[in-house]
Parts: sequence; structure tokens; C-alpha cells
Amino acid sequence: MEFDKELTKKLDEASSIVFFTGAGISAESGIPTFRGDEGLWKKVKPQELANFDAFLRNQDMVWEWYQYRRNIMNNTKPNAGHKTIVEFEKYFDVTVITQNVDNLHRRAKSKTIFELHGNIERNFCIECKTFYNHNEFGSAKRTPKCKKCGGMVRPDVVWFGENLPQDIFNKAEQKAKECDICFVVGTSAVIFPAANIPITAKQYGAYLVEINVEQTDITSSVDYSIKGKSGEVLPKILDIIKDK
Ligand code: OAD
Ligand code: ZN
Repeated sequence: MEFDKELTKKLDEASSIVFFTGAGISAESGIPTFRGDEGLWKKVKPQELANFDAFLRNQDMVWEWYQYRRNIMNNTKPNAGHKTIVEFEKYFDVTVITQNVDNLHRRAKSKTIFELHGNIERNFCIECKTFYNHNEFGSAKRTPKCKKCGGMVRPDVVWFGENLPQDIFNKAEQKAKECDICFVVGTSAVIFPAANIPITAKQYGAYLVEINVEQTDITSSVDYSIKGKSGEVLPKILDIIKDK
């Protein structure tokens, strides 16, 4: 794999790197993405499953769908893409800003992770906001009740129409402003405000590199677009640094 010389130069000069990731980085672990022909949103309608009104209307169906996805995720492992990002920490100050709820960056042991859309491993009570980890209700077939107040317990993920966790977003945005290189990995970059992260990084002077198997909405705005699977491209980029 041949890379643009500019990338080598930018890597030489960089100290801080942001990886902005989406479902595509976990595709090689066997987790379905959202969009595209095989995507989750082709099979189910987001408005029936991933919003609060849907949950109130049909709590057990929503719960069951999240339990199904948790089972898939629990049976997967971080792939070369997640692992290579951890290796970058040997050479750079690395921040992972992810839209994924699948926990794979955490399981790969990335040090600094900002989860913009929550984490499927956690739940919380909609009444008293008590948090529970997944194990607490791991085998629940129906929406569980809060152990403190009896309220309904929901997955700690951001649904359509909901706000992102503000403090996490602010911290992520600050890192985007400060970084030297921002890699946009495996995301269609169409869901805002998350997709503002790479745009902000570029506005504040970062070199913006996309890694994706396809063209996306952001391809025309990046400095360098690399076509390929993240689990194959990222290790090759790390080789540039190792070869120094
Ligand atoms: P998408 O499903 O929209 O996009 C996945 C992207 O990954 C596509 O651009 C694919 O081309 C690319 N891709 C697939 N396999 C790849 C691979 N092996 N290597 C590199 N790229 C690959 O997923 P997201 O952009 O993450 O929101 O979606 C954003 C948000 O929309 C999600 O966080 C979710 C969804 O609704 C919430 O749940 C709030
Ligand atoms: Zn409660």
C-alpha cells in the first residue's frame, strides 16, 4: 500500500492525534453497520426502535432488540483496527472519539475514549437515573424495573431526537481543536452533531484523513482519503511510523 508523502510528513510533525470512528471500524469484528445494503437501518426502522417514544410505546420490543445487539457484541472481539489505534499511543497523544456503542475500543484498551452516543453495556432508570451495568440485567427478556424506584430501565445510548452527553461532547470537541491529525475511520459522517468533530478539527488546522471502503459525505472535505478496510489500512499507516 502506497501512501501520499504528505501523510508521512504530517505524521513526523504530529504530537496529538484524534481517531473519529464509526460503525465501519467494527465491521471486521462482525458487527453490522447502520447504513448501506446490509445495514441495520435497512432491516428495521430507527423510528420504531431507536427513540424514546418508541420505547414508551413498545418497551419490550426495544429492550429485546438491544439485548440481541448486545449478544452479537459480546461475542465479538476488537479487530486490527481497534488494536492498531492503541499502538499509536506509543508514539502520539491519542484520543478516540467514537460514535460506536459497542465497547470495542474499551476492550482493546484505548486510554482516552469519548463515547458520543453512549455505551450499550450500560443501562439507566428513566425515573431516578440510577445506572446499571449490563450484567445486572444480562438475561432479562423484558424491560427491567429499577431496583431503587421501580422505574423503567433503558439502554444508555443516544436515541434519535436526544441530546448527546454535553460534557463528553465538549471535551471531544476540545481535543478536535487541539489535534494535529484527525483520522475519520469507518463512518458515513452524516449524523450531527457528532459529524462536526472532524469538521472542527480541520477548521482548527488539523490534517484530515479519511479511511473508508467507500466515498462518504465528508470525502470531498478531507485532505486525504484512503480507500480500504480500517483493519488493513491502519496497521500499514503504523508501519510508516515504525519504519522511521
Ligand atoms: P454507518 O453505517 O452510517 O457508516 C458506516 C461506514 O463504514 C460506511 O461509510 C461504510 O462505507 C464504512 N465501512 C464499512 N466497513 C468498513 C471497513 N471495514 N473499514 C472502513 N470503513 C468501513 O455508521 P456510522 O457512521 O457509525 O447513531 O453511523 C453514525 C450513527 O448513525 C451511529 O452512531 C448511530 C446511527 O444511527 C446512534 O445510534 C445515535
Ligand atoms: Zn429508578
